[in-house]
Amino acid sequence: MSALTPDLLRELVAEARLAPSVHNIQPTRWRLLGDGRLALVDATRVRAPVADPAGHDVLVSHGAALEGMSLALNRRGFAITGITTLEQPLSPQLTVLCSFAIKQGAEPDLLADLVARRMSWRGKFAASLDDAAALAQLVAARDDVICIGDRRAIADIAGWADRAEFSFVRGDDYRAELLAWMRLSPGHPHYLLDGLNRDALAMNVVEATAARYVLGSLFKPLDRLGLAASLLADGAKTASTSAIVLFCRPVGEDPLTTGRHFYRAWLEIDRAGFAACPISALSDHPDFNDRLRKLGKIGADLRLVNVFRIGRPSKPIKPRHFRLPVDRLIV
Ligand SMILES: Cc1cc2nc3c(=O)[nH]c(=O)nc-3n(C[C@H](O)[C@H](O)[C@H](O)COP(=O)(O)O)c2cc1C
Repeated sequence: MSALTPDLLRELVAEARLAPSVHNIQPTRWRLLGDGRLALVDATRVRAPVADPAGHDVLVSHGAALEGMSLALNRRGFAITGITTLEQPLSPQLTVLCSFAIKQGAEPDLLADLVARRMSWRGKFAASLDDAAALAQLVAARDDVICIGDRRAIADIAGWADRAEFSFVRGDDYRAELLAWMRLSPGHPHYLLDGLNRDALAMNVVEATAARYVLGSLFKPLDRLGLAASLLADGAKTASTSAIVLFCRPVGEDPLTTGRHFYRAWLEIDRAGFAACPISALSDHPDFNDRLRKLGKIGADLRLVNVFRIGRPSKPIKPRHFRLPVDRLIV
């Protein structure tokens, strides 16, 4: 498409940026190339190296952004074509990861209109009497998700999630990095821009203040007293889910492709009437990853990429997205 004007590019990026990214770090930038192709550019200094040492979650986040761009194009009747993946440094801060052309003519994508509605739901879930039909819809739509709806299994997984998360939180570097991406008061200069703010974390003022101390200066004394784990536990929320979703993709898959499917699976969860939040600690922790693989009977050819808790939010969701301005994302 020759008509990718600067104004249209801004509109597209405004929608593509609504894709999820690990810790909301937003590592994706966009550049219009001279030949009319669009490049997905990695902001190489935007990282969470402790939580994501292999950089896999950053690549999954880029993949989600790529799918976000595809969905934004779809809403306007366009599609991505001729993707070439290449790693081409532009500067110490920017590296092109892939580029693609844009063609006219695309069947409407059912997921495109869910983009503005999707958000990470970190509040409680309401009890729901009958989720069976919605879960069946989700499983029918995606062959890369396994839904666990059994209450006892969910209670077990809620406990595992707390143990997995706490084993990471015990690391000084992990806590420091997490706190650096948290914006616990609206006065933080990046509150509306990136990272995890109080609203996104569904915390009130007291909870946010407590989190600052429990993850910060009071962590060690509280841990010595055996109190830190229970203060940070999220198990009640996980236990209130309608289902735990295991997101599995082929071993060795290109992480950009994995990321595209990660986003689509999440939108499909929303389409089925649920809200969701990933629990990466469960897939990142080898022991709990293994337990979930066994529980879900995941074959050796598949990787358990991530885990979601999904359910009906306890109150109506007013989606809010905290994102960098479009101008910063076009380079
Ligand atoms: C690869 C990946 C892993 C994530 N892991 C977690 C997680 O473990 N816990 C969590 O609360 N959110 C997790 N998220 C969700 C992001 O924090 C979230 O997408 C981001 O803050 C943007 O907010 P939004 O989803 O509401 O648009 C993850 C997202 C991605 C892409």
